[in-house]
Amino acid sequence: MALVHNPYRPHVGTLVQVKDLATGIKMFQVELGDPGERERFVYQPGQFAFVSAFGVGEAPFGLASTVGRSSLLEFAVNKVGTVTNALHDLGEGDAVGVRGPFGNWFPLGEMKGKNVILLGGGIGGAPLRPVIHTILDNRTDYEKLTILWAARLPSLLIFTDEFDDWMAAPNTELHLTVDQGDEAWKGNVGLITELLEKVAPSPENAVTITCGPPVMIKFVLLALEKMGFTPEQMIVTLEGKMKCGMGKCGRCNLGEKYICTDGPVFSYSDVSSFLESF
Ligand code: FES
Repeated sequence: MALVHNPYRPHVGTLVQVKDLATGIKMFQVELGDPGERERFVYQPGQFAFVSAFGVGEAPFGLASTVGRSSLLEFAVNKVGTVTNALHDLGEGDAVGVRGPFGNWFPLGEMKGKNVILLGGGIGGAPLRPVIHTILDNRTDYEKLTILWAARLPSLLIFTDEFDDWMAAPNTELHLTVDQGDEAWKGNVGLITELLEKVAPSPENAVTITCGPPVMIKFVLLALEKMGFTPEQMIVTLEGKMKCGMGKCGRCNLGEKYICTDGPVFSYSDVSSFLESF
């Protein structure tokens, strides 16, 4: 009898590499054990998957890897709860469960020929990494790339080892800010909205993607609106309390929409009526 694909059943993967990304944040590189599953697991920038620590539970994470760059699945994991604590206790060679990919993705095809402005806050910026990789790997398909990258502290900035590559790419700018600097920090100090006002990207022929904590998303969208960006030019990703990932359990609703199936990528028009609750 042929095995039916069961989306609730995690597939066993091995941690090929675990490395520190920032204080309390690790990057997990996972190789799925079953070659058929590896082939089936095709995903787009913006999608997410559940990663499980066996015997403890599972949690959703945005895929931080890029299909064209690696066959491994990469997840940035912040140590904040039972599942993530258990994942942080694992090391290279240990087994984890993965199920997915789920959700919709960023409209990278429609973004071609446009100026792209990316705003990432803390660990929430992880889903932007495959967007950055895709644009850098197809640089002439897109106009100017402006990345605004923020964290509470310098030690919480993620993907710092890639900053030189990002900045070396043609027609690409990276701007950093932290809420609170330290003795070594020589860059901007302040909220990402202040950095946005300082960098002042033009709305002309532009599209923005904002990923981060809900309160950051709210104030960035309001700031972009004030700068003349239209709702169609503003894309966000949202996180929710997710259990099934397939629109069945009703845990992740945002009004009539489900973050897991209608999102996690939304337009400003989708979320504008919920901004007050963010
Ligand atoms: S996680 Fe179950 S409906 Fe979205």
